[in-house]
Amino acid sequence: MSVWAVLVAAGRGERLGSDRPKAFARLGDRPLLAESVERLDASEWVDSIVVAAPKGWEEPVILLAEELGCSKVTEAVTGGASRSESVRAGVAEVPEDALVILVHDAARPLLVEDMIERVLAPLSEGWDGAVPGLPLADTVKRVEGDTVVETVDRSSLVAVQTPQAFGAETLRAALEGDIAPASDCSSLVEARGGRVKVVPGDPRLLKVTTEADLERVAALL
Ligand code: CTP
Ligand code: MG
Repeated sequence: MSVWAVLVAAGRGERLGSDRPKAFARLGDRPLLAESVERLDASEWVDSIVVAAPKGWEEPVILLAEELGCSKVTEAVTGGASRSESVRAGVAEVPEDALVILVHDAARPLLVEDMIERVLAPLSEGWDGAVPGLPLADTVKRVEGDTVVETVDRSSLVAVQTPQAFGAETLRAALEGDIAPASDCSSLVEARGGRVKVVPGDPRLLKVTTEADLERVAALL
């Protein structure tokens, strides 16, 4: 099967508060994006990679890929105003004959080969998609403002990460219409009745949101 990765890196990184987009914030001595580009490129499962870049940073993305020798990066497209619009822009560059699309957040640099394999496997068992999920450690409550409304049973809840894998046709169909409010791709697939499997997530795949996260990821490198 041909697997295309869409790496979304077009966010502004407002909560990180760097002078450049989050994908180009420093992780060690390299831009954050270098980690996920290199790891996807090295994966024996991934055939090609499209990066959704911040507006004006398309060229630096291509230069970075060249510098890293990541020849699977075929294109850097301009991302959109929301994450799902950036995914849509990336998926638009994936050729029609691709069978599987793997969507990954550049903000989750610590991607390992085993995780890629884990989300791809269910697609050959008839699932429409697969996502990594982690059980919640904290007690979870529904609130209205500062008032607790109820305590939610966390045993049936997971925190979902990327990479998320989908049949290419499934994902293309899910990206039609109003996608702006979606915080991940799976929710769009679910909304159209797609069956999505949860596979064990990886605590190292934490998402870099703040400066403290960047330090935590750097310590795990
Ligand atoms: N993303 C994107 N296009 C957007 C918004 C987000 O490609 N318009 C990507 C980010 O680059 C990141 C992933 O989606 O890899 C998850 O988004 P998030 O962690 O929220 O990153 P930012 O939106 O950049 O951060 P912030 O919300 O703090 O501005
Ligand atoms: Mg964001």
